[in-house]
Amino acid sequence: MSNTETPVTALNTPRKILITSALPYANGPIHLGHLVEYIQTDIWSRFQKMRGHTCTYVCADDAHGTPIMLRAQAEGISPETLIANSSEEHQADFAGFHVQFDHYDSTHSAENKVFAEQIYLALKEKGYISRKTISQYYDPEKEMFLPDRFVKGTCPKCKTKDQYGDNCEACGATYSPTDLIHPTSAVSGATPIEKETEHLFFELNQFEEMLKAWTREGHLQTQIANKLDEWLESGLRGWDISRDAPYFGFEIPGEKDKFFYVWLDAPIGYMSSFKTYCDKTGLNFDEYWQQGAKTELYHFIGKDIINFHALFWPAMLSGAGFRTPDAIFAHGFLTVDGQKMSKSRGTFIMAKTYLEFLNPEYLRYYYAAKLSSRIDDIDLNLEDFAQRVNSDLVGKVINIASRCAGFVVKKFDRKLSGAWSKEATELYQHFVNQSESIAALYEAREYGHAMRDIMALADKANEYIAETAPWVLAKEEGKESELHESVSVGINLFRVLISYLTPVLPVTANKANAFLKLDKAAWDDIQHPLYHHEITKFKPLLTRLEMDAIQKMVDASTQTMTQKSNVPDGKKENKHPQKNATPNFEPLADEIGIEAFSKIDLRIAKIVHAEAVPEAKKLLKLTLDIGLEQRQVFAGIKSAYEPEQLIGKLTVMVANLAPRKMRFGVSEGMVLAAGPGGSDLYILSPDDGATPGMRVK
Ligand code: MSP
Ligand code: ZN
Repeated sequence: MSNTETPVTALNTPRKILITSALPYANGPIHLGHLVEYIQTDIWSRFQKMRGHTCTYVCADDAHGTPIMLRAQAEGISPETLIANSSEEHQADFAGFHVQFDHYDSTHSAENKVFAEQIYLALKEKGYISRKTISQYYDPEKEMFLPDRFVKGTCPKCKTKDQYGDNCEACGATYSPTDLIHPTSAVSGATPIEKETEHLFFELNQFEEMLKAWTREGHLQTQIANKLDEWLESGLRGWDISRDAPYFGFEIPGEKDKFFYVWLDAPIGYMSSFKTYCDKTGLNFDEYWQQGAKTELYHFIGKDIINFHALFWPAMLSGAGFRTPDAIFAHGFLTVDGQKMSKSRGTFIMAKTYLEFLNPEYLRYYYAAKLSSRIDDIDLNLEDFAQRVNSDLVGKVINIASRCAGFVVKKFDRKLSGAWSKEATELYQHFVNQSESIAALYEAREYGHAMRDIMALADKANEYIAETAPWVLAKEEGKESELHESVSVGINLFRVLISYLTPVLPVTANKANAFLKLDKAAWDDIQHPLYHHEITKFKPLLTRLEMDAIQKMVDASTQTMTQKSNVPDGKKENKHPQKNATPNFEPLADEIGIEAFSKIDLRIAKIVHAEAVPEAKKLLKLTLDIGLEQRQVFAGIKSAYEPEQLIGKLTVMVANLAPRKMRFGVSEGMVLAAGPGGSDLYILSPDDGATPGMRVK
């Protein structure tokens, strides 16, 4: 039998599926956090396609809103130019990671405007839109209303300066911008004034019953349904869907100088992107979106945008007479080495930076190995990443082919054998028998489980090769047919593994198929083993992941706050204390006893605020959090640090130093720093895990 015959096994009836990933904001680059989602969705899309279903994967840039408008102004370009540029960058990044959309669009499109208006007018017609006059901060200089994030001021609770209008990063309090002490506009620096304005609201409360039912009908992961219960129990309020001019978005029909809030037309972008794809390809739009549609619709999203997708969106759709999604598939957030991605640690890694150093399929595999159907955060542990990729992909999977291929090429004229022993046939069957259970795991987004099962098979394949030991058989007389069987079965098992891994490793799978002289593979092709089949010479399909390359990537991603704030001070940029520190010849101080030492109360302190003291050449004023209380300390480290570099950092302070009255205020302690002085000064930081208030002993 040859592989060119069409497989006989019929799949269940082909399904028609439309899937989406959340639309990335047009004002920022794609990073490894985003990629959790796009890789997760892409694996699912490729899997469904391989199974013979019609699966359409659409996405778009989320192009509207105040941040995009302001960013364009700051760069001196039009918002249209800004979003065109970032669309290009985003698509290049996605392509770099082999994320293959069927169509990628923008929410700033003619089609999206049509749908946004249509849905809004339908909701209005049915009485779901109301008006209310609200009072909001207004920037009198810039002549615009300010979104919460664009008002800054002192936290009303803990009095930390420079906090956003919605919550305090120091104490975690949430409030409204009008609660801030000394509010200022982050746009112009002006003091905002309160001004009344009429806004339009989508009456979510009218959908309370509908949503209570919908959120309990199996469209949501249990963790999420439970969370939403809390919201629904506390009652739904109207959702503010309008914004005043100036705003980059769509004008609301029938209103003057009012625009749709970005989150209104963003999910509608799923529809309009698909509509454009339908117009291009002849697919039937209504078949996917009309009420009662038999096709399937799924949205992949991050856990931060659940309310928009699981409450507002189904309410909008059902209110406007469209079908609602079959499911929302939410995932958790990415951490790197157990912590939030951080620019100063070099773990805020852009897609583009990653691609300069590493093969995208390494990350696809690692994410797959970590992903499940739950919304737990997933951790990219850089050491584990290298180890896992090397031991699983290179060591287990690729190795099988490289151990067998040479013999097939040199000894058997590139041909695989035809007749197999009973044991070999059974082994192959054992591999193929897992086809449906592995498919079920992909279907359920239990990729981690699927990868474990596939690697267990890879272990079995390697055991088979170790037992049959082709390199031994090759040296013995009269063992040709045994050798031929061993390496042919090895190549066949490799082919099954590669087939199972195809949704995750599309490029490696393509290369493997070229090596095996196979066309693009469908899920069930492995039902037919490759007998008497010709292959080509083996070329390494994936190389080892070197820790060195990871380090280079992290270095390239390490950004000091000085770089971010664009301070044109060459000396302060790229401060790498370890590399620059001058050798220290300061003589050691006189010996003291333990009693003397234990009198010093050293505490871990978090720098919650730092600012320059304008009148003092050397001083920064620090606000330090030591758990139970906050301290104000003046430190002579102005030449060594920009204040914003320090905010959020942990350091060590002498907490029982007698307060000292200085010209600018009282200094309530001292932070520890090392170095000769001036710009060559380094504050001490504790290792990860220390928390404010811990005593240093
Ligand atoms: N524009 C909105 C989505 C509109 S959908 C109608 C948005 N954009 S985003 O660029 O901030 O995020 C896009 C997707 O990436 C979201 O689903 C978000 O949850 C996900 N992620 C962004 N950062 C992430 C991590 N650090 N980790 C995992 N996913 C993350 O939200
Ligand atoms: Zn606070």
